[in-house]
Amino acid sequence: MLTHEDNETLVRVGPGTVGGNFFRLHWVPFYVSKDLAAGGQPRRVRLLGEDLVTFRTPDGKVGLLDQSCPHRGAPLAYARNEECGLRCVYHGWKFGLDGKTLEMPAEPPESTFKDRVQVKAYRCEERNGIVWTYMGPDQQNPPPLPNLEWNLVPVAQVHISVRVQECNWLQALEGDIDPAHAQFLHNRIDSKNKLAALLNARGRPTFEVHRQKFGVSIAAKRDAPEGQIYWRVNQFIQPFYTLTPPSFPQLSGHAWVPIDDENTLALMFSYHPSDPLSEKVRRIFDEGHHGRETGHASLTGLRQDDARRPYAGYWTKFNPENDFQFNYDSQLTTWYSGLPGLWVQDAACQAGNGPIFDRTKEKLGVTDSGIVAVRRSMLEAIKSYAQSGAIPPALHDPDSSMIRAIGVRLPPDAPWWGEDQTFLKAQVGKGFGYDV
Ligand code: FES
Ligand SMILES: [Fe+2]
Repeated sequence: MLTHEDNETLVRVGPGTVGGNFFRLHWVPFYVSKDLAAGGQPRRVRLLGEDLVTFRTPDGKVGLLDQSCPHRGAPLAYARNEECGLRCVYHGWKFGLDGKTLEMPAEPPESTFKDRVQVKAYRCEERNGIVWTYMGPDQQNPPPLPNLEWNLVPVAQVHISVRVQECNWLQALEGDIDPAHAQFLHNRIDSKNKLAALLNARGRPTFEVHRQKFGVSIAAKRDAPEGQIYWRVNQFIQPFYTLTPPSFPQLSGHAWVPIDDENTLALMFSYHPSDPLSEKVRRIFDEGHHGRETGHASLTGLRQDDARRPYAGYWTKFNPENDFQFNYDSQLTTWYSGLPGLWVQDAACQAGNGPIFDRTKEKLGVTDSGIVAVRRSMLEAIKSYAQSGAIPPALHDPDSSMIRAIGVRLPPDAPWWGEDQTFLKAQVGKGFGYDV
């Protein structure tokens, strides 16, 4: 369990909170490049509790501005997307990507008022189909973008999906680093789930947790045939990334990006380190598997019915209002959980009882040791920055996050972590190094 104060430190992300200040030290992946057309409609975004609009100018540059015009507050979601910036439709003030006011056409021509007015603007960069922003205090001197393998491999090797999950970022992330839930929550009672069957056959795991420069490694250890040990190692990378071991055979994970305290952008990636993904795999991720959701939100699982919300188009048809389409009959015949598909099962357990869980009430077992270590690593980092301005060492060492999750069989005396275990190190173009 956590104290109320520590829980608050972890879950509050808005401006001026200690957690929010810590998140603002980092680059944040917040949009998919292909969903922003050049000269297209500005999109409402909420990030770390701030209401913003993002857009791509006709010449292809991405901007992120306050959603409220600094003149008299008209929504910049209605702005005209013009060369070099946005023009508010109320009185025609125009703002550049850096937030400077470029024109105030109704003011007298000799007025210098525009030189003294700015709109809040955050720096953006794009890399391999993802738009990143830096919301930190020093917009002129951001740290380098973190090197994360899923965002460095060629786009043919990665699939990205985005959806909104109606709960706090940590509540969502904790499901991804929880090595004990898959064989229950994701199991099928018609025995078609190969992963759960494999894990069940190997019995109850034991766990090892290692703090790392980048975050935390969480290893589950099971017996394997011929006296070997089967290790599955999930990774947590500060401040909100997860990596889960390869299967079928992509490596996957999430950026659990805080929209506000109660909503999270679940950016999921699946990639192969050396080979392009097949059309069949992409189709399954986009359309679901035989009509069921996979780890990725399918395109048909997304709602298009509320353009006023931030991240419109990324909210889903499986949500707390409809009980995530829980079906008790399905629990008797198909899914152990009665919930239709992988990410829906996770989301229902993470968000189904409200957006912010009171962690003073929880009872943690040994299978939660990874979750405890992740919370501790974040609390220490947040408090060190708040108390002494200490910057996390990984922030200026972008390669420290070049790691992989693994699912590997090893001899009983072989360590899974160490200089010799090169399959843990990510290197663009390098294969897994073992049979997945
Ligand atoms: S409110 Fe935007 S220009 Fe007046
Ligand atoms: Fe899960």
